Amino acid sequence: MKRSPIGVFDSGYGGLTILKEIRTLLPQYDFIYLGDNARTPYGPRSFDTVYEYTLQSVKWLFSQNCPLIILACNTASAKALRTIQQLYLPEFDKEKRVLGVIRPTAEIIGNYSSSKNIGVLGTKGTVKSESYLIEIEKSFPGIKVFQHACPMWVPLVENNEYNSEGADFFIKKDLNLLLTKSSEIDAVLLACTHYPLLLKKIKKFLPENIKVISQGNIVARSLQDYLTRHPEIDSKCSKNATLEFYTTDSPEDFDKHSEIFFGEKVNSKHTDL
Ligand code: DGL
Repeated sequence: MKRSPIGVFDSGYGGLTILKEIRTLLPQYDFIYLGDNARTPYGPRSFDTVYEYTLQSVKWLFSQNCPLIILACNTASAKALRTIQQLYLPEFDKEKRVLGVIRPTAEIIGNYSSSKNIGVLGTKGTVKSESYLIEIEKSFPGIKVFQHACPMWVPLVENNEYNSEGADFFIKKDLNLLLTKSSEIDAVLLACTHYPLLLKKIKKFLPENIKVISQGNIVARSLQDYLTRHPEIDSKCSKNATLEFYTTDSPEDFDKHSEIFFGEKVNSKHTDL
């Protein structure tokens, strides 16, 4: 039978932190990962550019026979997902599905806060889109959300500086800026799939009473639930437990850096979009 894997997309390596959790929960499925490393970061780019790059990536994953794609990138989910779902799919690919990471996270995040004050850390693009404010308000009206953009964090991670003293400086600075917005924040969401790599340092610089939430497990559970509720999509996803990795940049670099995100060695191939 022809392989029809679930596609997982990110601008670079960050989505591997999501794929890792998805695969742990759904090991029987086939997956194909695409990292647009040649054009990362997406965070500072315009709405139109992120849409164009994301759509190209989605079309490429569809060409690999994916019936379902997860945009494992908050920036792409914030700036491109709705247009893809509402305009592109109904016109060109009615049978296929593209899901993001913002809604599943927003639907659950309120449960982590007793003070009803949540901090959201993301890229400039995610913060500016206000997607989390809008989506959290739908599921948890009355919860206060304080956002802060951390434009240096993705480059620190992508350049393998996530454990350096330089990283300490920017992490401390950004966390302090977030906490000056409200002294009542008791839960901080890492709304960028690169940030879990900085988790140790983030915890070190935050007061102990503040919970830090990564999205991997939340997105994985939400996908599991989606597949149960949509047997017509689930039956299109092949299940031979295979994994493939593609990057728009150098496969050597991708293989070298991806282990820290994915937790195991990967063997990637190059593709142009
Ligand atoms: N990992 C992406 C996210 O979750 C951001 C990386 C980027 O700026 O390209 O937003």
